[in-house]
Amino acid sequence: MVDTLKAEALRAIAAATDPASLEDVRVAVLGKKGRVTSLMRDLGGLDPEARKIRGAALNLLKTEIAAALDARKFELQDNALAARLESERVDVTLSARPTSEGRIHPISQTIDEITAIFADMGFAVAEGPDVEGDFYNFTALNIPPEHPARQMHDTFYLPDAPDGTQRVLRTHTSPVQIRTMLSVKPPIRIIAPGRTYRSDYDMTHTPMFHQVEALVVDEAVHMGHLKGCIVEFCRAFFDIDDLPVRFRPSFFPFTEPSAEVDIGCMRSGGELKIGAFGDWLEIMGCGMVHPKVLANCGIDPTRYQGFAFGMGIERIAMLKYGIPDLRTFFEADSRWLKHYGFAALDQPSLAVGLSR
Ligand code: PHE
Repeated sequence: MVDTLKAEALRAIAAATDPASLEDVRVAVLGKKGRVTSLMRDLGGLDPEARKIRGAALNLLKTEIAAALDARKFELQDNALAARLESERVDVTLSARPTSEGRIHPISQTIDEITAIFADMGFAVAEGPDVEGDFYNFTALNIPPEHPARQMHDTFYLPDAPDGTQRVLRTHTSPVQIRTMLSVKPPIRIIAPGRTYRSDYDMTHTPMFHQVEALVVDEAVHMGHLKGCIVEFCRAFFDIDDLPVRFRPSFFPFTEPSAEVDIGCMRSGGELKIGAFGDWLEIMGCGMVHPKVLANCGIDPTRYQGFAFGMGIERIAMLKYGIPDLRTFFEADSRWLKHYGFAALDQPSLAVGLSR
């Protein structure tokens, strides 16, 4: 009796091809009204000696069937997984479909290129808000309320914040310098790409544009570091090994000394070419972080020095990719994007190339 039951149960288990039919077998054999269970119930009518022998046999039977059920369950799970892996197989070595119509905007591509170059030099990316407090955009940067530099920024003023402080759309990415120095201790090495706003509109100005800021603060940082870093960046970005880079004395309230950076170029017949051609083109502002700015951020200027620079992203993208009119960046013209945009998989890296 026990042997036949065992043989039948094992056959049924082997025949189950999915979890549901396997569960049916379990219920029919081991469930409350199952065959083994009812045999167990019959034990009560036997005399003690026979009950002992039969009980032991039934317990063994139960264990064996439970083990067989488990084994079959895992087998079915394995089979299901194998079938799924087979049916969902993807050949990751296939090349991407060239049918995608979308293009990466030159601004995004240029930000990725800049980030790749500075990441290689050990810079992290920092961010700040577009709607900025007057303190961060001006005052902490050594531009007090009546300073003439405020007029030059064509600032968009916004209604006061709930705490009564003046809010503006940031006119440059330099407030990210302040936010960074207030929140982390030196050594600091960041770049901050992002949107900036000035009330201005013509061939070379749009009310919203992009800048990238760089800030380094550490002990024993000097102007040689600033110079080396910028020369290295310019040559990598334009991919011209002998690109001439020149530093011209200038003024910014938040750096001292300050300089403007020119790169070599050639102008002929309305065309502009970057390279060692004898003419010069201004591309960014820079300088050593003003001691007052360090102090405004709780950094001891007798112990730490820093350098910073900032440049317009549209401007360097126009120069690199020969885009003549700034305003076209923001017209959302799909023909323009098709012409000047980049394929989604062309991620710039120093290893593969920055601009292919
Ligand atoms: N914030 C300056 C501008 O918008 C650029 C700059 C950044 C100059 C950092 C010096 C240092 O013109």
